[in-house]
Amino acid sequence: MTNDNIDQHINNLYKIVDKRTIFENLNSPRSVAEYYHKSAFLYKKFHSPAGAMHLPIEFEKDSHANKLKYQAETVRLEIEKHGYSKVLELGCGMGFNTTHLAQSLPDVHFSGIDLTPQSIKFAKKSSKDLSNVNFRCADFDQLEVDSEKYDLIFAVETLCHSLDLTAVLEKASRMLNSNGRIVIFDGYIADDADLTNKRFLEAYKINTWGFALYEYQSLVEARNIVHSTSLKLESEVDLTPNILPNVKTFDRGSKSALKYPLLLKTLIKLRIIPLVYIKQFASGMTGTYLLYNNVMKYYKFVFVKP
Ligand SMILES: C[S@@+](CC[C@H](N)C(=O)[O-])C[C@H]1O[C@@H](n2cnc3c(N)ncnc32)[C@H](O)[C@@H]1O
Repeated sequence: MTNDNIDQHINNLYKIVDKRTIFENLNSPRSVAEYYHKSAFLYKKFHSPAGAMHLPIEFEKDSHANKLKYQAETVRLEIEKHGYSKVLELGCGMGFNTTHLAQSLPDVHFSGIDLTPQSIKFAKKSSKDLSNVNFRCADFDQLEVDSEKYDLIFAVETLCHSLDLTAVLEKASRMLNSNGRIVIFDGYIADDADLTNKRFLEAYKINTWGFALYEYQSLVEARNIVHSTSLKLESEVDLTPNILPNVKTFDRGSKSALKYPLLLKTLIKLRIIPLVYIKQFASGMTGTYLLYNNVMKYYKFVFVKP
């Protein structure tokens, strides 16, 4: 499967947004927060009213809402297995994972940080009846290593936004108790990705622009973290096959929307819809294309601090 008809949809995209703007991809922490603030409406309306902003994972036919709990449930199993009591989520978004965990495990204390103030506001509101959770606005690229220690730190589809993954994880490892773990779910550039291929590179550039990120890390970079930190790689799981059924749905939706480029351009000009919606469509279709062509992979990594 190569998702061959992507050219036509990319051409439609260029009728809405100038190609140079996409390739320049000017991001900053401020534009990332603005992206997530403005796209929250789409996430809540079409993806998860409870505020999940990550991909559903499918092992068998199940409801969309249940598939969105996979990442948090995996973290719950780690917490229970090791008897952990203090957990931090980096890039918690609207708090879906941490709120779910705090409800399931009332004796464990949870904290969540995120760059986007409006998401933190939503997270606080959704968890207002829970006494074992707190959310605050913070940038994980500027983590302050204070005296506070955690048993487990996790991150779902957020460290791809990091300016320096090794630096974030080096600090995170110093915030872990010994025998603590870091669990990460994210998209990565595949080991044998051919980014010299012009079509793949173009899809990749559109995808990073669409998701408001600078560059994805490669799987190799993620594994190499063990050389610059005290962490050991405990396990890695390729979950790409388990996200494909659902990214196909995003792909279809994005391509249908992009069939009307002139209408979309007018709606943006009149400020009826934000440009962020186009970014979502662009990243939806290119993400699927890159996953199907083995340029991108979706992995779970577990690192342990001995
Ligand atoms: C795809 S969403 C995932 C949110 C959440 N982890 C979930 O599973 O629903 C990515 C999140 O990363 C956050 N983010 C991006 N860069 C960040 C940074 N430097 N520090 C903290 N959060 C960041 C964004 O604000 C956004 O909420």
